[in-house]
Amino acid sequence: MKVTYRELGPREFRGAIHALVAVYAAAMNPPDRTLSGREAIMDRHAAGPGFRGLTALVDGRVAGFTYGFHGENGQWWHDMVAAALATRSGGSSAGFGDTEAPCSWLDDSFEIAELHVLPPWQGQGIGRSLLLSLAAGRPERTAVLSTADAPTRARRLYRGVGFTDLLTDFRFSGGEPPYAVMGATLPLLTDATVPRPARPSSW
Ligand SMILES: CC(C)(COP(=O)(O)OP(=O)(O)OC[C@H]1O[C@@H](n2cnc3c(N)ncnc32)[C@H](O)[C@@H]1OP(=O)(O)O)[C@@H](O)C(=O)NCCC(=O)NCCS
Repeated sequence: MKVTYRELGPREFRGAIHALVAVYAAAMNPPDRTLSGREAIMDRHAAGPGFRGLTALVDGRVAGFTYGFHGENGQWWHDMVAAALATRSGGSSAGFGDTEAPCSWLDDSFEIAELHVLPPWQGQGIGRSLLLSLAAGRPERTAVLSTADAPTRARRLYRGVGFTDLLTDFRFSGGEPPYAVMGATLPLLTDATVPRPARPSSW
């Protein structure tokens, strides 16, 4: 298979949102009724500060995508996580030393909003390449994201490139499953900076 990676500016990203949400739907299997809302959120994110989007094409067709932007006060995800970090400052929020407030993870952060690969192409390095390329060269001090608080492939991937748990068992809203909020100092770890860790037996 021939995989190519393509950066999308905000305008191109917006033009491709329908196809990207189809990848999201195939990867995440969300309720159909949520998809139009997801399109609207992604459309709004494309206007965010420091937006960067990437697609992976297999034989010319979209097989995966990722995007992120600079985190700022006033953004829904940023404010929810900042409030939770401020109140849940103990536990596993580590990384900048005991004296530094957990919220400093968000002070100069790149927020990775989505990363998805179509099921037939998963497990072949595409997601990892998308993630590393997205974060490469970013000016921010940290990268942050949220993902299902479960032993998933995504969680393993994030840990493998340097992300640690900032919050676990976190709920953005009452009806949703628990999330983990993870953070990494940039640059992310690559095979060139550290050998890929062996997978813990429970993961
Ligand atoms: C999570 C997701 C984006 C990861 O993308 P992916 O392309 O499947 O992942 P990768 O192949 O890059 O890496 C995952 C695995 O491949 C391995 N891998 C990475 N690069 C590799 C390479 N060059 N050769 C062989 N294996 C490789 C990794 O060690 C990892 O192994 P493991 O999952 O068995 O532990 C993708 O699986 C997905 O879309 N999942 C469903 C949606 C989802 O959970 N999205 C994230 C929401 S936060």
